[in-house]
Amino acid sequence: MIRLKVLGIAIMLLMTFFVAWYWPVYSEMQAMKVANYEQGAHKGSLYCAQCHRGIYDEWSNNSLHAVATTGGSFKDYLEKFKDNYLLNTFVTDEVCYACHGVKASTEGVNCEICHGTVVANVPIMETHKIKYKPGLKELRKKDFCAKCHDLRSPLSHDDIFSVQSEWRNSEAASKGETCLSCHMKKRFNGLSYHGFDSAHRDVTIYKDDVRLQNAKLDYPRFTLEIENSLTGHAMPPSGPTRIMVLEIIFLNMNGEEQYRVQETYGKKFNLMPIAGLFPNSLIKNTQLQSGELRILSLTLPASMEGKISKAVATLKFYGVSDEHQGDIKRAHWVSKPILTEEFTL
Ligand code: HEC
Ligand code: HEC
Ligand code: HEC
Ligand code: HEC
Ligand code: HEC
Repeated sequence: MIRLKVLGIAIMLLMTFFVAWYWPVYSEMQAMKVANYEQGAHKGSLYCAQCHRGIYDEWSNNSLHAVATTGGSFKDYLEKFKDNYLLNTFVTDEVCYACHGVKASTEGVNCEICHGTVVANVPIMETHKIKYKPGLKELRKKDFCAKCHDLRSPLSHDDIFSVQSEWRNSEAASKGETCLSCHMKKRFNGLSYHGFDSAHRDVTIYKDDVRLQNAKLDYPRFTLEIENSLTGHAMPPSGPTRIMVLEIIFLNMNGEEQYRVQETYGKKFNLMPIAGLFPNSLIKNTQLQSGELRILSLTLPASMEGKISKAVATLKFYGVSDEHQGDIKRAHWVSKPILTEEFTL
């Protein structure tokens, strides 16, 4: 009898503890499912393209926004998410569409996601008057992009995406430059640029944003400076799905490879307890912060003494999915080199 009572009390205590601990996490997760944009039927980007062809072309040719719900890596990760019993039951895939765009539209982050949907039963120029023109004020606020580009783990409260706080600590922010000052700066047609470039599609956008300099060999010590001269945020920016890799190949007098090393820069997280799959608490952050100059220092093996006369250093980005972060062997894409420098030692 007494034993049963004790067992009963123990179970009650355990349940109370579980609910008290889990409830805030549960409600935060439910809040993540609320779309970060206005809901409603979309006319689609081709409708806007009738009169905004230039902006449409930039968006559809360059921006990953345009493929945010149809890209291969999104679909792969979504499948894994749906196969995960816990996440699929309690969180559901609505959480993905809260940022990646309307499920039904297959256009990802399209015009209406950012600008709002077309008002029904009035001429389009009426929507412009009551919504699109006044709406620009909202869109130009300094935390507009952060709606989707900032993400905190509901459990650990660590920043999974941190581009907003990286920017806040940057030289650009202190000069009053926002995301738009750089990413939407007018380019060819006198209109705000809508290409939102990414290394995934075009690495040349990173030209001059990172520097490799002052390589020195004082045997067995090799040092090299790496500097993030992109003053808007960290390199790589934001989250765990992108790793910047510095590869150094050491050559002898005849240009033959003697030795090679790889250094990685980025963020690594533990996955959610029990559920897995979703990044949760930060374990390591080697991002180069805005304006940061870091000195890489390596000890070369004794067998290399006298054999090395040149170093070729290359920087690339690797795209990794959340559950394989940190593991560049499982990258789903590798960029072309952002930068290659040769140093005579
Ligand atoms: C029938 C042609 C037409 C269509 C279709 C159209 N626009 Fe426009 N839009 C215009 C014109 C013309 C202007 C310039 C208005 C001005 O300068 O007064 C404009 C301006 C804008 C502006 C800048 C704000 C302003 O009023 O100056 C935004 C934002 C915009 N459009 C968004 C959209 C979106 C989003 C869509 C699709 C849902 C769209 N437009 C569809 C003709 C169109
Ligand atoms: C409604 C949510 C949403 C808003 C608002 C938004 N983005 Fe995005 N953005 C995304 C998503 C989702 C992706 C990832 C697309 C993919 O790779 O599938 C993305 C990708 C990007 C990329 C490419 C990133 C990469 O890793 O290659 C850039 C750059 C970018 N956004 C900049 C901006 C800027 C600047 C703003 C503000 C003007 C902004 N975004 C507003 C959701 C949003
Ligand atoms: C808070 C908004 C937000 C939520 C919620 C979100 N994403 Fe994203 N996702 C983004 C942004 C923004 C990026 C661009 C990467 C960056 O800025 O680091 C991105 C990038 C990705 C990428 C990497 C694309 C690549 O190839 O580099 C995948 C895959 C992805 N998201 C899938 C998902 C899935 C599946 C879910 C739901 C479980 C989800 N995302 C939930 C905003 C979000
Ligand atoms: C990721 C969010 C986002 C998406 C997607 C987006 N826009 Fe914009 N758009 C903005 C922001 C922010 C501004 C204000 C830019 C500024 O003031 O520099 C803007 C400005 C504009 C303007 C005013 C042009 C100017 O030079 O001031 C037009 C027109 C426009 N957008 C049309 C479109 C159309 C058409 C699409 C779809 C093909 C689209 N936008 C997709 C965020 C977005
Ligand atoms: C001082 C200029 C500057 C500012 C300010 C800035 N960025 Fe960037 N950002 C860049 C440059 C340059 C790149 C390299 C790719 C490009 O040109 O889009 C980049 C890259 C990115 C990427 C990743 C693209 C990739 O290929 O990995 C994202 C996401 C991003 N920025 C989002 C933002 C957001 C959100 C803000 C505001 C909080 C912001 N940026 C502020 C200049 C800036």
